[in-house]
Amino acid sequence: MHCKRRLVVLIVGLLLVQVKSHPQADPCQNFYGVACGNWSSIHASDSYQSVLGQLDYNYQAKLADLLDTDRGEDEPHSVQQLRYFYTACRRPLSQDQVLRSLEQLIALEHIQFEEMTVGLTAAFRLEVIANINHYNKYEIWKLLLARQEHWDPNTTNRESLTRDQFDELWVRMPKIPFPEKEDFWYQVSQLEAELTSIGSEKDEVPRDELVTWIPSFWMLPWPNRYLTYRDLYSVARLLALRTPQFMLTYMYLRLKLLPEGLSKDSWLMDRDQCAEQSRQILSHPAVWLIEQNHPRLQEEPMLLDIFEELKQRFGQKLRANRNNFTRRTQQFLVRKLKRMRLRLSILPRNASALNMGQLIDGHYRHVHMNASDYFGNLYIGLNHSRPQFNTLASSRSPRSVLLPIQMHEYGTFASPFYITEKNMLIVPLSLLEPPLYAHDQPPILTYSSLGFILAHELSHGFDSEGVTYSADGVASRAVYREIGRNPRFQHEVSCLDRKFGSRRYEKFADASGLELAYSAYFDTAQTDRKRHRSTDNLLSQQQQFFLNFARFFCSDGELSEESDHGSDRKRVNDAVAHFKPFREAFHCGTSHRRRHCRLF
Ligand SMILES: *[C@@H]1O[C@H](CO)[C@@H](O)[C@H](O)[C@H]1NC(C)=O
Ligand SMILES: *[C@@H]1O[C@H](CO)[C@@H](O)[C@H](O)[C@H]1NC(C)=O
Ligand SMILES: *[C@@H]1O[C@H](CO)[C@@H](O)[C@H](O)[C@H]1NC(C)=O
Ligand SMILES: *[C@@H]1O[C@H](CO)[C@@H](O)[C@H](O)[C@H]1NC(C)=O
Ligand SMILES: *[C@@H]1O[C@H](CO)[C@@H](O)[C@H](O)[C@H]1NC(C)=O
Ligand SMILES: *[C@@H]1O[C@H](CO)[C@@H](O)[C@H](O)[C@H]1NC(C)=O
Ligand SMILES: [Zn+2]
Repeated sequence: MHCKRRLVVLIVGLLLVQVKSHPQADPCQNFYGVACGNWSSIHASDSYQSVLGQLDYNYQAKLADLLDTDRGEDEPHSVQQLRYFYTACRRPLSQDQVLRSLEQLIALEHIQFEEMTVGLTAAFRLEVIANINHYNKYEIWKLLLARQEHWDPNTTNRESLTRDQFDELWVRMPKIPFPEKEDFWYQVSQLEAELTSIGSEKDEVPRDELVTWIPSFWMLPWPNRYLTYRDLYSVARLLALRTPQFMLTYMYLRLKLLPEGLSKDSWLMDRDQCAEQSRQILSHPAVWLIEQNHPRLQEEPMLLDIFEELKQRFGQKLRANRNNFTRRTQQFLVRKLKRMRLRLSILPRNASALNMGQLIDGHYRHVHMNASDYFGNLYIGLNHSRPQFNTLASSRSPRSVLLPIQMHEYGTFASPFYITEKNMLIVPLSLLEPPLYAHDQPPILTYSSLGFILAHELSHGFDSEGVTYSADGVASRAVYREIGRNPRFQHEVSCLDRKFGSRRYEKFADASGLELAYSAYFDTAQTDRKRHRSTDNLLSQQQQFFLNFARFFCSDGELSEESDHGSDRKRVNDAVAHFKPFREAFHCGTSHRRRHCRLF
């Protein structure tokens, strides 16, 4: 669940650290190990690395099936563009195309991160597109430097440019809005001198720190010295310091150095990749196409029911008013909860099929893909979804009926998300699929997975940041002031801060989400006529609930600890650590860890 912005998701799988399975894991110490211990061995040959990845993979396979079959009559313009994009992506790509695409990019007046993204994708033959911004340029270069796919290092040039070579290349350069030649040469020679001086003499480098590869499809100068991992980071830092303008032009020059024969070289992107990119670049038509063929949309009332129950449980907490908030703040919070909406799918749910087609076509009316120009299409798509300031906030503009969706962000993955400015929770349809959900599954499985997920997102509306936004998504200064002065609430916020730092929002949402989902399923004291749960075997039901909750997080390894939510193992273990019903269900005794932090 990425509720905040998703920063870098690129070439996932590269920096995964394998985790040993824990056959004898103790549920009280490492519940993740108990629930997910051999997930990786069972899924070793699959091309996804987590349960969430599996959901996306299946969704994209379905999309690819639809895109591989002939188009229906009268498909909307935007769905046609989706098909062109997919078709171009499935054609062999060539070095010629790369050069032509770079030529077009470097001739542009403004080269920003979207242009850089297309340039890097083309030059380095990336399968997954980088989503670049100021904050992660360095990370992206680091990842590129870590790539070790099979390739032919003989077909590159890794020497510095000589002045003669440069002069010759410059003559053949397309017209670019770049400064003048001498200035450019100065920057090039400067960078190349710095790059090639990185590294050390052989005997200065410990063997186990030695970098033994040259990254895949690398065409920039490579130091003729011995490198450590730290040296790679230095290379990444040098490159990240340069502007997209400079880097694209420079990469183009370097690519022109390669032997002519290379231009006949071609490569192919696979089906899953192309379907994934189609979904990311043209999200609305992709979702539209899937929904035309998807029965799960009818399950929205079931989700809404669970959502109402969760809201009710959270409402009880708010009304208990542990923080002793003033009446006004109380009302503010209760109203926000009451008005919080849930929507299945990123598309509005009130339009007729016909209207929806028109709505999406309106949004993409200036998008014209070319069925034989993959890199060009990539650029058109990224340019179209370039972040525009305030699009989310200006909820009154007609455009905002369709949520603005950007690469690798909201709505292009199975992850649900909460939009503070709209006080709305979006659940992508891809979540309503096995292994998470099946039409006839017992409620305990639905409450422990989807119930938890909805409750997690709901809780984001009340985390220490979200709580000051009103039912209409407007920040309230009065509530902000009161909350800032509330001793109990602030005490709990510092408690979360101390324990989890920047992950405090997620850890709060996890703990709160688990508690709400559990109570919605097991606390029958309230209004519970829907689920005829037997009280037989309560203990094993409780265990099943927690195991199924944890399985949502199963993955191959652990993505770096820097991700918003921390590692999957820690997520599961932190969420259950202080939860009394969990400790009882697994006979864990009382927790000796530091106390639980509770905002409400
Ligand atoms: C999973 O691990 C358990 C031991 O913890 C083992 O008994 C079982 O056979 C494993 N299952 C698979 C499919 O590997
Ligand atoms: C690269 O060139 C070397 C020598 O010139 C040769 O031995 C090697 O097989 C070549 N590698 C590839 C992948 O063609
Ligand atoms: C709650 O706040 C009111 C004033 O707003 C105060 O009179 C009362 O003593 C407080 N109660 C507790 C338990 O702190
Ligand atoms: C659907 O609802 C949105 C607001 O939620 C509204 O702007 C739009 O006009 C509605 N569309 C139809 C077809 O009713
Ligand atoms: C589509 O792309 C191809 C290859 O780049 C190009 O030759 C053709 O002119 C393009 N078509 C349009 C309509 O732009
Ligand atoms: C990029 O987007 C802008 C406005 O969003 C548009 O005017 C321009 O034509 C687009 N450029 C390309 C190459 O699609
Ligand atoms: Zn979250």
